[in-house]
Amino acid sequence: MALPPQFLEELRSRLSVSEVVMKRMRLQRAGREFKAPCPFHNEKTPSFYVNDQKNFFHCFGCGAHGDQIGFVMRHDNLSFMEAVEHLAGEAGLQVPQASPQERQQYERQKSLYDLVERATKYYERELYGPSGRNALDYLRRRGLDDAGIARFRLGYAPQEGGPLKALLADAGYSEADMVEVGLFKRAEAGRPVRNFFWNRAMFPVTDRRGQVVAFGGRVLEGDGPKYINSAENPLFHKGNLLYGMSRARQAAADGQRLIVTEGYMDVISCVQAGFEGAVAPLGTAMTETQIQVLWKLAPEGQRNPILCFDGDNAGRRAAQRAVERVLPILVPDATVRIAFMPDKEDPDSLIRSGGPEAFSAILDRALSLEDFIWEMVRQGEDPKTADGRLRIETGINQMMEKVADKAVQYSYRSVLREKLRAAIRAGGGGFGGGGFAPGAGRPRRQMPGDVPVSRLWDNRFRSGTLRTEPRRRERYLLLAVIHHPDLFQDIGEVLAGAEFGDAELEALRQALVACLTAESALDAEALKRHLSGRGFYETLDSLLSADAPKFAQPGASFEAAKSGWQEVWLSSEDGLLQRELRDAERRFAETFSEDDLAKLRALQRELLILRGHVDNLTELDG
Ligand code: UTP
Ligand code: MN
Repeated sequence: MALPPQFLEELRSRLSVSEVVMKRMRLQRAGREFKAPCPFHNEKTPSFYVNDQKNFFHCFGCGAHGDQIGFVMRHDNLSFMEAVEHLAGEAGLQVPQASPQERQQYERQKSLYDLVERATKYYERELYGPSGRNALDYLRRRGLDDAGIARFRLGYAPQEGGPLKALLADAGYSEADMVEVGLFKRAEAGRPVRNFFWNRAMFPVTDRRGQVVAFGGRVLEGDGPKYINSAENPLFHKGNLLYGMSRARQAAADGQRLIVTEGYMDVISCVQAGFEGAVAPLGTAMTETQIQVLWKLAPEGQRNPILCFDGDNAGRRAAQRAVERVLPILVPDATVRIAFMPDKEDPDSLIRSGGPEAFSAILDRALSLEDFIWEMVRQGEDPKTADGRLRIETGINQMMEKVADKAVQYSYRSVLREKLRAAIRAGGGGFGGGGFAPGAGRPRRQMPGDVPVSRLWDNRFRSGTLRTEPRRRERYLLLAVIHHPDLFQDIGEVLAGAEFGDAELEALRQALVACLTAESALDAEALKRHLSGRGFYETLDSLLSADAPKFAQPGASFEAAKSGWQEVWLSSEDGLLQRELRDAERRFAETFSEDDLAKLRALQRELLILRGHVDNLTELDG
């Protein structure tokens, strides 16, 4: 029974999180919050925080997070309803009882489950009857023995629907019931109903509790779609079910990895080969809800299911689409991994041809989400060139903008930027001790705007000539775009993601980005008019009348403006690191957590090293 939201609100407003927590453990006040060593993982210094304003607890160490109910569920090891009852007791509230309508609806659902269960048993029996011969042979050819068939409750839907209908009618079900769960369909009003599945091998689909709620029916030979699936019905909402999920939940609790494959037979082969955490969506790409369902199947700390894709280009694109669906709903402590099958194989065929070891090897090589995103953004780009680097950075920004959760965005962004820096170091030589890897960078045509990054590093760290004062640098960057608005096509993303230290120039930067985003075809004169119109007349005037290097002057060619812009951008005392540092500072200011402090310190050190103030970490630590 679902509880009315008003009741839960009332419960939460009567008991603050800190009150609930303090009944169960000691809490120490810390400003507006409370803190303590986390009750959900082992630690000496407190990273468990309670915030009553935001109505949650959060542990920066293990990621445990929730409200009053969530805390009691975890702490007292109770189910949701049990926790609610406990809390209602503490708050002096009465848990609402099911209404007669709710009870009636519940009974109705129960009887539909029973109907589908009877049909499942019927199909199972038919598989071993005379008319099921072909289907049974077919399943055996696909490697299923009797035990396997029984385990997955496979069956056969015969040509004729009459016997099933009679059987269900005997059990008291009306034709309307049979139609409602999708086993029969009505051709026209008044005409008798017809069976939806006929002459097909039947794959029962179960819900999270393992009750059959739908079927997939596979054609044996001849025409028709390979699989047909039950339509949505009161028991079956395909967008939040996964084939095999109840078994997979058990397997995940036992420490097995969750694996998402494409089809019924893949799941069956996986499970038979010992990969019991295998599931599949039902004939569609994974939905957001299915991804969230998938995460909940695994215990906390193990929410990293492996999504399997074909090894071809279509498979890669499917993986990208899946990742783009995952990013907006990413939360701390949940991710996905991506595995690609060898060419022309699906998990079923791979296990049949190469054995479980072959499949296991593929799973072991699954890419983490960050590695996969890195592959996506760096594909075809050369991080050694300024152009390539900007495009990679743009790619990173575009992907990261999709991530709604700020903490997750922060950590992925810094991992990806670190990869970018590592790629630059590895390829560019010249500093940081990263070895020069011959042949690591793919040969690519030289772009007019290319600036060898190694040269920049050398300039910057050896002689310091490019250590332009920040304000001046910001002026140049703006000026070049004002004189060459068409630059925006190439550097717009980067400029939009920047943040200038000088308040006046920062305001102008924002206005500039806004103008050029709204209207792409502005020329320099029109742009200046727009900006003047927005109140930047004086800023512009002083900007335009001061000295500027060639690339930021009106007469510069497009190419010169672009390469100059990039050079100055890259020379920005390492724009990347700077921005990471700012992010880290901001985050630490919000959380004051040890973890964030550690990240902040790490970045500060890195910057010191990068600037040549110290040579390595040992020196700093000593
Ligand atoms: P596949 O065609 O890859 O299925 O479709 P498969 O499991 O490898 O099939 P076999 O091995 O030939 O038996 C993947 C999934 O897409 C859905 C089914 O859920 C299937 O398992 N599908 C496929 C349909 O719903 N309808 C179709 O016509 C085909
Ligand atoms: Mn297959």
